[in-house]
Amino acid sequence: MCGIVGYTGKDQAAPILLDGLARLEYRGYDSAGLAVRDGDALAEVVKATGKLYHLADKTDQGRSLPGCCGIGHTRWATHGDPSLVNAHPHVSGNCSGSGSGQVESDVVGVHNGIIENFTELKEKLLRHGYAFYSDTDTEVVVKLVDYYYKKYKIGPVDAITRTMVRVRGSYALALMFKDYPGEIFAARKDSPLIIGTAEEASFLASDVPAILKYTRQVYYIDNLQVARVAPGSVKFYDLNGDEVTLPLTEITWDAAAAEKGGYEHFMLKEIHEQPQAVRDTLNSLIHESRIDLTAAGLTDDMLRSLAQIDIVACGSAWHVGMAAQYVIEDLAKLPVRVELASEFRYRNIPMPENTLVIVISQSGETADSLAALRVAKERDAKTLAVVNVVGSTIAREADHVLYTLAGPEIAVATTKAYSAQLVAMDALAVQTAYVRGAVSQEQYGHFIEELSAIPDKIKRVLEDKERLQWFSSKIANAHDIFFIGRGLDYAISLEGSLKMKEISYIHSEAYAAGELKHGTISLIERNTLVIGVLTQSELFEKTISNMVECKSRGAYLMGVTTNGNFIVEDSVNFTVYIPKTDEHFVSSLAVVPLQLLGYYTSVNRGLDVDKPRNLAKSVTVE
Ligand code: F6R
Repeated sequence: MCGIVGYTGKDQAAPILLDGLARLEYRGYDSAGLAVRDGDALAEVVKATGKLYHLADKTDQGRSLPGCCGIGHTRWATHGDPSLVNAHPHVSGNCSGSGSGQVESDVVGVHNGIIENFTELKEKLLRHGYAFYSDTDTEVVVKLVDYYYKKYKIGPVDAITRTMVRVRGSYALALMFKDYPGEIFAARKDSPLIIGTAEEASFLASDVPAILKYTRQVYYIDNLQVARVAPGSVKFYDLNGDEVTLPLTEITWDAAAAEKGGYEHFMLKEIHEQPQAVRDTLNSLIHESRIDLTAAGLTDDMLRSLAQIDIVACGSAWHVGMAAQYVIEDLAKLPVRVELASEFRYRNIPMPENTLVIVISQSGETADSLAALRVAKERDAKTLAVVNVVGSTIAREADHVLYTLAGPEIAVATTKAYSAQLVAMDALAVQTAYVRGAVSQEQYGHFIEELSAIPDKIKRVLEDKERLQWFSSKIANAHDIFFIGRGLDYAISLEGSLKMKEISYIHSEAYAAGELKHGTISLIERNTLVIGVLTQSELFEKTISNMVECKSRGAYLMGVTTNGNFIVEDSVNFTVYIPKTDEHFVSSLAVVPLQLLGYYTSVNRGLDVDKPRNLAKSVTVE
């Protein structure tokens, strides 16, 4: 989704803003723009459609835009086409054209999010003589701020808070006012925004990597707060305009972690970082051969008292929930429901007393997951966030937070965060089972040993990547791929299928193997690729039978199975083996070849692996 950056200090702003925007590219965008002020002069606005280098070319890498205070934006279209006129920044002045250049305006701004009542607000502003050049909700907000600023002759903070009371929706806003050179004003509700400070400089960004090069000292501005950002100093205000104090947080990430580190793509790098991401996450949860969830505020008593777990998430995080459902139910004998956050938020789901709602999210900012969390809290459920980004909105609003330690994930398609989430949920399952007396001390020890061995086993799976690279070159022209499995293997198939389709653009579907016969098998044609996940000993022969049914209708078969299951080769054309592990934890291993297959297929098709079309890393709108 859109990315925002801001800088005010002693250095030329535009190159810093372009650098920050480049680090937010992973969020997905279709156009970009900058507004930079040189002292008291009006802001100069430059926009470009397409990739960021067009904007960099237009501004001679930022060198041709003088001024030490500015804001920048990458836009992922919501209201209005991806076009120059709709690209941000937007200006309050009534202008024709695209709002570029030095437009006589009191306010210029950028926005991430969606203003739901923008049509009604636009009508109001039209009645007051404002004219609009774009189709965006952002231009409406900028003009509404301008309207209150002038009507009540109030300062920027009050004009912004008045606007915040009128708009419905989500936003992170960064605004510059003509009368306040060298300052940037920001506000947020349900969209990410951080503010960094250094000596004689301050920064704004949608995410940490954009400013990590310049500072590690950041403020997480809260919902419905306004920030007044000057070089080296920041003040915060609540909706009443009263000043509030926020804690300064030190970012401990390694800056190199956000760079490609010699890999061709972030996705490949992140696939290879999985052993570390999983190890770090497990190390934070396992101490002296015991699982300790107290850092997340989860006591044994609380786990014992649970009547039900509802897991809510989107996309791959939902697939983690699907896998966790099998593991928790089997080990802890506790009912688990897994819901898509976008559905959960609008359903009136009965929740028995002592229901724990777990929201899984890498970014901690996904709009539907956040809304689902709020619904759960309204219903008095206990809530736990399993989140990767420290200080994100979901992490802050949940009753309890269990952090995955995957580090920054840049590629749009998740890999290492997914794997870190899986083991975090496995550890939760084992501990819940143990404290509820569903597994013995001996089994508990065995599960912890097996979990601890996963990072090294993932490394071994990665060693087999050349075979997958070769196989992907054979399937690069496929039209349809089906991923099938039963039980946990079905949960893994869901993730394998998403990895394939989102980055290779090959249509793929995941099916519970037993369901194929109920309709989908009619799609199987000569050479349709069917990939079976075959790791569950009680079920894999049944899945093989389903695969063979496909083969007899012309399908080409690939199987992912556990070392030793050589029988699979009798039926399947191409087999990938993963190391043996306790079958509850097999998802962490079986998913890796499927990630690699998706990755190499995308590379073979010459696609933009890290930034697939139409997708955004952090889906902060509904
Ligand atoms: C797919 C992918 C998405 C995310 C989903 C949820 O590779 O990355 O499906 O899993 O958008 O995002 P988070 O985990 O940030 O809530």
